[in-house]
Amino acid sequence: MVKRVLLTGCCGFIGSFTVQNLIDKGYFVVGIDNMNDYYDVRLKKHRLDILKKMENFKFYHGDIERLDTVNHIFNEFKPDGVINLAARAGVRASTENPWIYLSTNIVGTLNILKTMKDFNVKRFVQASTSSVYAGLKGPYNEEMKVDTPFSPYAASKKGCEDLCYSWHHLYDFDISVVRYFTVYGPAPRPDMSIFRFIHWISNGQRVQLTGDGTQSRDFTYVEDIAEGTVLSYEKSKGFEIFNLGAGENPYSMNQMISIIEELSGKKAFIDYLPVPRADVPSTSADISKAKNVLGWKPETGFKEGLKNTYKWYCDESDWVRNIQL
Ligand SMILES: NC(=O)c1ccc[n+]([C@@H]2O[C@H](COP(=O)([O-])OP(=O)(O)OC[C@H]3O[C@@H](n4cnc5c(N)ncnc54)[C@H](O)[C@@H]3O)[C@@H](O)[C@H]2O)c1
Repeated sequence: MVKRVLLTGCCGFIGSFTVQNLIDKGYFVVGIDNMNDYYDVRLKKHRLDILKKMENFKFYHGDIERLDTVNHIFNEFKPDGVINLAARAGVRASTENPWIYLSTNIVGTLNILKTMKDFNVKRFVQASTSSVYAGLKGPYNEEMKVDTPFSPYAASKKGCEDLCYSWHHLYDFDISVVRYFTVYGPAPRPDMSIFRFIHWISNGQRVQLTGDGTQSRDFTYVEDIAEGTVLSYEKSKGFEIFNLGAGENPYSMNQMISIIEELSGKKAFIDYLPVPRADVPSTSADISKAKNVLGWKPETGFKEGLKNTYKWYCDESDWVRNIQL
C-alpha cells in the first residue's frame, strides 16, 4: 500500500524539494501551506505550480495554527506520518515580530503533535536549525548543550525540539529532529544572503553586506537536505537529533561573493553594514551521526550548487528580478 505523508510548508523552499523527493520514492504526499507573505508569494506559487503537475500530490491551502484545520486534514487524508517544515524562518525578522514566531513555530507544532496523538499517528520529523548552537564553538555536534539562543527564532525552534521530546516520552512517538545548516539552491528564500547577493550583483546593484564578509556558513544544498529529511523520516526511531549540514569547510560571505562574481562576470560593489546582534559569526556541522545512523552524505559541493542556483535565477529572471527583497 502507498504510504501517505503529510508535509507542512510544502510551498516553501525546502518543503517543495522534500515533496519531490518523497514522490520519487513512491509516497503519496498531502501538502499544507498558508502561503503567507513573509516573502514574495510569487516564489511560493512558482514552487506550487511545479508540485501540482505531479501525481500523488494533493495541496491543502491552510494554516497549522488552526487546530480544526489540522484535524480536518487528518480526518480526510489519514497520513501515516508527518514532516513538519512549516515555520517562520528568518533569524533577523524574528527580532521584529517575535509573537508570530512563537505562534507559528510552537503552537503550530503543538497542534500537529496533538492531532497525531488523537489519530494514533506516531512518525514525525521536525525541522530545526543550526541557530540553536548560537554561542558555541564549532564544529557543532548533537550532544552539545544548547541553551543560549541569540534570537526568538532560535528560541522557538529549541521550544519545538523540547515539545518533540515530551511527545516521545509521553506517547512513544518516533521523532527525528533535523537541524539544517544554511540551505541554498534553486528558488531560494529572498530573505537569505545567496538570493540577495545573486540578485544585487547580477543587476549591478550595491551589495548590502553585514560585517566585513569574513563570517562563514556551512552552506548545504537543498536536494541533499531533502534526501536527509526523508531518510530521517524513514529511519526515525525513538527520539534522535541529526545535524544536516554540508560538513565541508564553511565558506565565508567574501568567498561566496567572489564565486558569484565569477559566475555572472560582474563585479560586486559593497556597502558594509553593522552586524545584527541576532547573527552568529560562523557555523560548521559535525555530520558523523547522520552519516552513521541514516547513511546520509551530502553530494553537491558549494561551487556546483551555487552554479545551479545562479542558473535558476537567470532562467527565471523575467519575473524573479522583480522580486521584492
Ligand atoms: N532555509 C534554511 O537555511 C533553514 C535553516 C534551518 C532551518 N530551516 C527550517 O526549515 C524549514 C523550512 O524552511 P524554508 O527555508 O523552506 O522556509 P520557507 O519560509 O521557504 O518555508 C516555510 C513554508 O511554511 C509555510 N508556513 C508558514 N507558516 C505557516 C502556517 N502557519 N501554516 C501553514 N504553512 C505555513 C510558508 O508559507 C512557507 O511556504 C523551517 O522550519 C525552517 O525553520 C531552514
